[in-house]
Amino acid sequence: MSYRITDFDQYKRDYDLSVQNPESFWENVAENFTWDKKWTKVQSGNFSDANIKWFENGKLNITNNCLDRHIPTKANDLALLFIANSPEEIDKRFTFKELLDEVSLTANMLKAQGVQKGDRVILYMSMVPELLISVLACARIGAVHSVVFGGFSAQALAGRIEDAEAKLIITNDGGYRGDKIIPLKNIVDEALLLEGCESVEKVIVHKRVNNIINMSPERDVDWDAAREGMSLNCPAESMDAEDTLFTLYTSGSTGKPKGIKHTVAGYMVWAAYTFENVFQVEENDLYWCTADIGWITGHSYITYGPLLNGKSTVMFEGVPTYPDASRFWQIVEKYKITHFYTAPTAIRALMGCGDEFVEKNDLSSLKVIGSVGEPINDEAWHWYNEKVGKKKCPIVDTWWQTETGGIMISPLANITKLKPCFATLPLPGVRPVLLDEKGQEITSIEAEGNLCMKHPWPGVVRSIWGDHERYKQTYFSTYPGYYFTGDGCRRDSEGFFRITGRVDDVINVSGHRIGTAEVEDAIDQHHDVIEAAVVGYPHDIKGQGIYAFVMVSKNATEKIKEEIIASVVKYIGPIAKPDKIQIVKGLPKTRSGKIMRRILRKIAAAEFDSFGDISTLLDPEVVEEIKSGAILD
Ligand code: PRX
Repeated sequence: MSYRITDFDQYKRDYDLSVQNPESFWENVAENFTWDKKWTKVQSGNFSDANIKWFENGKLNITNNCLDRHIPTKANDLALLFIANSPEEIDKRFTFKELLDEVSLTANMLKAQGVQKGDRVILYMSMVPELLISVLACARIGAVHSVVFGGFSAQALAGRIEDAEAKLIITNDGGYRGDKIIPLKNIVDEALLLEGCESVEKVIVHKRVNNIINMSPERDVDWDAAREGMSLNCPAESMDAEDTLFTLYTSGSTGKPKGIKHTVAGYMVWAAYTFENVFQVEENDLYWCTADIGWITGHSYITYGPLLNGKSTVMFEGVPTYPDASRFWQIVEKYKITHFYTAPTAIRALMGCGDEFVEKNDLSSLKVIGSVGEPINDEAWHWYNEKVGKKKCPIVDTWWQTETGGIMISPLANITKLKPCFATLPLPGVRPVLLDEKGQEITSIEAEGNLCMKHPWPGVVRSIWGDHERYKQTYFSTYPGYYFTGDGCRRDSEGFFRITGRVDDVINVSGHRIGTAEVEDAIDQHHDVIEAAVVGYPHDIKGQGIYAFVMVSKNATEKIKEEIIASVVKYIGPIAKPDKIQIVKGLPKTRSGKIMRRILRKIAAAEFDSFGDISTLLDPEVVEEIKSGAILD
């Protein structure tokens, strides 16, 4: 039996089955995997009790399913291809057998360093094979991996270490990123000096760039030294279906980043099922997702999705514009990439560099191209279709979230009809609804509303690490009985979905999800800042840019803007740097003291004619003042 959908009729049949009888539908899918013990109940819990479980009492290990299961038929097939930052450096290849050996050896190393089932391990690494190997090594012994993107600062890293109470960190001495080197180990050192990181016992350091680093004798261990003499045999820990596989921190509209918790079995089934059906990779194809493993896309569609299906995966260490803007296309040509999955921000950036870069290379190997992370605008969609796909490759515009574990709404390549800028139709198991402001389901087909889900799917987030109450609040309290995505959405007359963007205080900058509250907190750390309000505004390349309105004290000097940027870099990282900072005398507030962001969003977007009702403002004059000082370029 297989779970591969082969044509649109089957999609419709499977979709209907998944709605009419979800338990029998997902039971059939789950039977394709290797279990140590079969589940006793397919699904329990719902969006009201916020206690969702899939494949209860089943026992399994996801790495058995990614690796061991394929050894009889694919031991010598390519599992992982690593392409380095520098085009001069030779690539590295791992077969399924070699990857299994690496993972087992590393898993034994982690055990020898004292890591046990349930312990949290933070991976703060660049895009090297050792990152993917470490992820799987954690999963093999039942340790919870929590990858932190290398663009986050020491403070941000420390916050995650503290929240996870991590026992061990794996890092690199440094990471290549285009012509830059990110000093990852130094940042770890800095983080570990901060309060709250006392749980960390060991730091394993993989040397990638050979820069000078300090090794603390009791705490720091060299990757090679730690792995020396370790056995290649590491039986996989038999995990409970609902044991935590990983946490991944992401931003919301309030408070500090949340540790999104995914559990073993449901996540596995969802990552595998969605990869297979959306991308439709065939034997001898080569699929490449350009994301970083620091984000959910790299978890589900570089690591788990492809390997679970016995397909090879590609890891690229570098950036699209190094050494020049043809790097992606050189890679496509050289390796005959057939499936290419990237983000609209990369497409827009490359589009802006001129067509000559994409035209120099032979892209005829491409069969399917994909987009993820933010709404793709019309111009970028057409450029991608014409210049990259040469009008012969379907674009799979995949909508999903860290919390959903895998793709939710997307065309299935060569199966679903395409419509530019539409994520089109839900995958089987996904029951999207549009709710109006009163929380009523909009029943007309053509509609616009807030996107919610009506029924649990296997990959849905199970909790927020250490704060189940916040989980309930964040996802299930706005519309009781539904999972609220935070996105706005339009549905056309054919029932196709188009995601219009976040409707909460989250901004999507170059596909990175950033909470306005977090940026405001970082700005507020500056002693001359009285108050700040941050909003998103349309940005040609990044999708959204960050616009900060800041009230400062009279002690502020002319360097205040630079200092504000430095504060954001210190507390979050360079990815959250404001693009525009406007110093203001006051912020528009209601009489109850709430900042009216709606007005600030309009000003940031240079939409000056439609502020709506501002009569409830405490001091309507500030609007004029802010408007006249708006930064418009
Ligand atoms: O607003 C949606 C946008 O990205 C958000 C999720 O961000 P994150 O959890 O970081 O996951 C990104 C990778 C899955 C969503 O709430 N988003 C993601 N994909 C799309 C999208 N918006 C429009 N179209 C998409 N294809």
